[in-house]
Amino acid sequence: MKKTVLVSGGAGFIGSHVTVELIQSGYDVIIADDFSNCDRTNYNGVCQITGRQLPLVEMDFCDIAAVRKLFIDNKIDAVIHFAAFKAVGESVSDPLKYYTNNLGSFLNVLQMAREQGCNVLFSSSATVYGEPEELPVTENSPRQPATSAYGNTKQMCEDFLRDCVAAYPGVRGIALRYFNPIGAHPSALIGELPRGVPNNLVPFITQTAIGKRECLSIFGNDYPTEDGTCKRDYIDIVDLAKAHVCAVARMLDDRMEQPYEIFNIGTGRPLSVLELVNAFEKVNGIKLNWKFAPRRAGDVVAIWADPSLANEKLGWKAERSTEETLAAAWAWEKRLAGKQ
Ligand code: WQD
Repeated sequence: MKKTVLVSGGAGFIGSHVTVELIQSGYDVIIADDFSNCDRTNYNGVCQITGRQLPLVEMDFCDIAAVRKLFIDNKIDAVIHFAAFKAVGESVSDPLKYYTNNLGSFLNVLQMAREQGCNVLFSSSATVYGEPEELPVTENSPRQPATSAYGNTKQMCEDFLRDCVAAYPGVRGIALRYFNPIGAHPSALIGELPRGVPNNLVPFITQTAIGKRECLSIFGNDYPTEDGTCKRDYIDIVDLAKAHVCAVARMLDDRMEQPYEIFNIGTGRPLSVLELVNAFEKVNGIKLNWKFAPRRAGDVVAIWADPSLANEKLGWKAERSTEETLAAAWAWEKRLAGKQ
């Protein structure tokens, strides 16, 4: 019998790519989204890629009655929770918005997992490591105090999951700590759709390349790195999505070694901002307009993953090259602009 995975926030950037990989691996998927931070582009794209009109429930995960109805009406084997706000800066200026939504929705997921006995996959972030003392970071590297409400919700939700798994039989959980997800599906039918001015590097690059933004600011050139710019672990969105399929299979096939597990999802290859910009220019044959600007508050100098636990236990590995990923990001931006 096919297993059913509920994907909250399934119309968003990561959720839509995960949905495609789940369908292509033989799972049934129910997408739940309130479209508060995205439109229907990615949902339509997922249906086109998979050739299916996927079940879509428009609902707010903070509404416990709606969440309960969804779980009672459907036999859900696992839930992947993406429904959350994600703008780091906004979370500092309006922390209650983040605490109410990101914690409230996840508490409802956990409540239903307790009532119905279901597996929970939580989308966590490398942000929990703060500025790491040792690189690369392993899952045992210490978490640092969060510097934003957004980061704090990631840590708190990890702890909620850990405690619920320990307390309630029938609840199992995996937290995936993503490094920097970038790129788009090779079909260019789904991708990242930032609202307003992008906060993240790659959407800002592609929007500058297409002419929507005048100039990319590279934040800081005096960091203690080889070229003075920050280093990150940029992980392809399709590779990242595949890690979710591996994690869901591990939960549903009863292969977990502990009822709560954490995995880093990254490439293990650090790239500086300048290296990423140069790679984008080279692979896409574009001269990007950029300048150095002052450091951005809150940025860590360098972070990249040791992904060996995920490689070994999930049987997952990042496969796509940075060049492929940056070409896909550019193809997506061009499609959005209607140029291709
Ligand atoms: C990457 C690098 C910037 C924009 C954030 C969140 C994290 C996670 C992913 C989100 C940094 C530099 C950026 C620009 C630049 N979760 N940069 N010019 O900050 O590593 O991680 O997104 O949901 O929790 O904190 O990603 O893409 O913003 O920045 O120079 O216009 O690019 O300074 O060094 P970050 P990012």
